[in-house]
Amino acid sequence: MHTAYVNGTYLPEAEAKVSIFDRGFLMADGVYEVTSVLDGKLVDFDGHIARLERSLAALDIVKPVTKDELLQIHRELVARNGIDEGLVYLQITRGGAPGDRDFAFPDPGTTPPTLVLFTQSKPGLADNPAAQTGIRIISIDDIRWGRRDIKTVQLLYPSMGKMMAKSAGADDAWMVEDGYVTEGTSNNAYIVQGNQIITRPPSSEILSGITRTAVLRFAEEAQMEVAERKFTLEEAKAADEAFVTSATTFVMPVVQIDDVALGAGTPGPVAQRLRKIYIEESLKTAI
Ligand code: PDD
Repeated sequence: MHTAYVNGTYLPEAEAKVSIFDRGFLMADGVYEVTSVLDGKLVDFDGHIARLERSLAALDIVKPVTKDELLQIHRELVARNGIDEGLVYLQITRGGAPGDRDFAFPDPGTTPPTLVLFTQSKPGLADNPAAQTGIRIISIDDIRWGRRDIKTVQLLYPSMGKMMAKSAGADDAWMVEDGYVTEGTSNNAYIVQGNQIITRPPSSEILSGITRTAVLRFAEEAQMEVAERKFTLEEAKAADEAFVTSATTFVMPVVQIDDVALGAGTPGPVAQRLRKIYIEESLKTAI
C-alpha cells in the first residue's frame, strides 16, 4: 500500500487520518497544491510553494514546515511510492481544537495547522491520449466566491461543474461571469485567434496557474504572440483553437465548446506545439 504523510509521520494510506474537528473537514478552511511528477521529479516545485505561501498568508494560516522540509517530504513520498509519472497532493488546513466548532479561528498558538501529503501514480501523464483528440467542454455560470486566487479546498462547485459536463457528454466545463470566461473547473482557459494566444490576466477572479505562468513564458520565448485579456464565450466559440492548462493536464487542446466545434474539430497547432514545449522544458527543469 502507498505511503501518505500526516503531521510529521509517514504511514500507510489506510491509516492516514485527521480529526473530525479539523476545520478543513468542517469548514473547507484549508489550502492545497498539486505538483506533477515527470521522470520521478517534481515539476515547478518552487512555483507551487510560492503560491502555497500566498494562499496561507491570505487566510492567516501558519506555515507548519519550511520549504526545504516540504521538498524533502515530496521527494520522500515520490521515492517510497515509486512515482515515475503522477502527482503529489499537499493540503494544509487551520487544524481544529478537540470538541470545538466555532466560526472564529482558533488560537494558532494552541491549535497547529494540519499538513497532509499523498501521491497518485498517473502513467501516461505526458503521453496522454486525450491530447491527441482534444477535449470537449460546456459553459456554465461561475457562481464561486470572490477569492478564486486562493487555492482553497472549497471545490464543491468545480466538482458539480465536472458532473454537469459529464451528464452533457462532455469532458469539462468553462465558467462564465458577465459574459466572460473566467477559467475551467480545475484549469486555466485560453483561446487562439490567428497567431495570438489570449488568456485572462491574473486577478481575484481566477487561480493564477503555475502551469499558466510557465506556458506563457515558453510562448513568448518561442516568439508566439500573447495577449492577457478577458475573452467572451462568444469569442471562444469563434476562435481558431482553444486549450486549457493545469499541473495535471499540462496543455490540453479543447476541440468543442457547447455545440460548436473549433476549427477543424481537432487539436490546433498552437496548443500542440505548446504542449510539446511545456513537457520538454519541464523535464529539463524538474527537480
Ligand atoms: N487545479 N484554475 C483552477 C480553478 C484550478 O483548480 C487549477 C489547478 C488551475 C491551474 O493551476 P496550476 O497550473 O497551478 O495547476 C487553474 C489542480 C490541478 C487540481 O485542483 O487538481
